[in-house]
Amino acid sequence: MRKKYYIETYGCQMNVADSELVAGLLQKEGFGATTQINEADAIFVNTCAVREHAEERVHSRLGNFRILKEKKPELIVGVLGCMAQNLKNKLLENKPYIDVVLGPDSYRKLPELINRKLDRSDSVVDTKLSRFEVYDDLFPSRQTGINAWVSIMRGCDKFCTFCIVPFTRGRERSRPVDSIVTEARQAVAEGFVELTLLGQNVNSYRHEEQGFADLLKAVAQVAGLKRIRYTSPHPQDIDDELLETMAELDNVCNSIHLPLQAGADRILQRMNRTYTRDHFMRLSDRIREILPQVGLTTDIIVGFPGETDEEFQQTLQVLEHVKFESAYTFKYSPRPGTKAAQFTDQVDPEKSQYRLEQLIKLQKQHTLIRNQENVGNTEIVLVEKESKRSSLNWAGRTDSNKWVIFDKGNAQIKDFVAVEITEARGVSLHGKITGVDQ
Ligand code: 5AD
Ligand code: SF4
Repeated sequence: MRKKYYIETYGCQMNVADSELVAGLLQKEGFGATTQINEADAIFVNTCAVREHAEERVHSRLGNFRILKEKKPELIVGVLGCMAQNLKNKLLENKPYIDVVLGPDSYRKLPELINRKLDRSDSVVDTKLSRFEVYDDLFPSRQTGINAWVSIMRGCDKFCTFCIVPFTRGRERSRPVDSIVTEARQAVAEGFVELTLLGQNVNSYRHEEQGFADLLKAVAQVAGLKRIRYTSPHPQDIDDELLETMAELDNVCNSIHLPLQAGADRILQRMNRTYTRDHFMRLSDRIREILPQVGLTTDIIVGFPGETDEEFQQTLQVLEHVKFESAYTFKYSPRPGTKAAQFTDQVDPEKSQYRLEQLIKLQKQHTLIRNQENVGNTEIVLVEKESKRSSLNWAGRTDSNKWVIFDKGNAQIKDFVAVEITEARGVSLHGKITGVDQ
């Protein structure tokens, strides 16, 4: 009988894409996928190390897998991704039931390691990072749906002082344009209509003479591709060429995720973010000038070491200036091995919690203000799924990445529809369908 594998994924979209790569690899070797953990012969957890909380969730999940393994000793338990890279020794010492530990650049070894493991009883480990690995010739096995994740570059050379990623994912490297375009065509042939180009630093993309704007132009020409998104760029590498390219290309969505992290110059410098608050605010003005109606979202960390109340207020001021459409907000979490973890002036957790609440409160107001700006407009929405609240309604997004709930009319999933926005509620828009364009 075919051996079955089960994968659970934590963390960023890059991990989702990596799990699809791993699934592709395993299927090529004759393994079958299962979503029923009890049926699996091999269980993998693709992990995230970006904050302590993400790691804790994985540790507790591994506790469950141990119980499964006690009942079924031949079960293979594998830890993949950033925690594998970062914590291999600790994992193997404390959790001897783990059979396979593979870092983000070692997935090609997986079939060989499982086969080896099937014959032997000790753990197998590979966490070597590579300067070249981009998994260019592998075919991801994607879940069916609207959006296909396509990894265009791996690793990060920015070394923000709070961030573990440069250590877990290694140096920056980009895939050739041609192979990305081929994968895009293949995704369209499989029925996907939207593509999200992924990388830790997408706009550092460079392959031979081609930069990120060139890549966007090439991918935009793929027939049948209705929408292209990308995440995440670094503010330092956004230039007019990229913004003008976005403005020119109809199928490149009008939204940018622009991580601010902090709004005080001293903190930005300590974070090694390489821009000032002033630069960031001017950049956001420029983006809104070249791309009217753009959806701007961000990441913010509160309680970075040494952040004073006054410096936190400066973050709120930048928020007031930019009025992001939405924001992902985090309490700083020290990551052993990073520079910031060595700073001795860590902020009191209660203070960070209070700041987080202030930040969320302000952002909620801005999200509502930005959503209200759409009321009365007719927006083009890609129908993505049934609304969770009512089977009579569809849910889909504007190209600025706002969710819209509207009556089904005679539209189908993957259609573009025109929706007149009648109301802005909480995080989503509501409206009436006024036209369908397959
Ligand atoms: N603590 C809190 N948040 C972090 N992020 C990255 N590292 C940390 C950390 N040590 C956040 C950043 C990044 C997002 C993906 O996660 O805001 O943009
Ligand atoms: Fe981490 Fe900074 Fe690289 Fe983003 S740019 S992955 S935050 S080091």
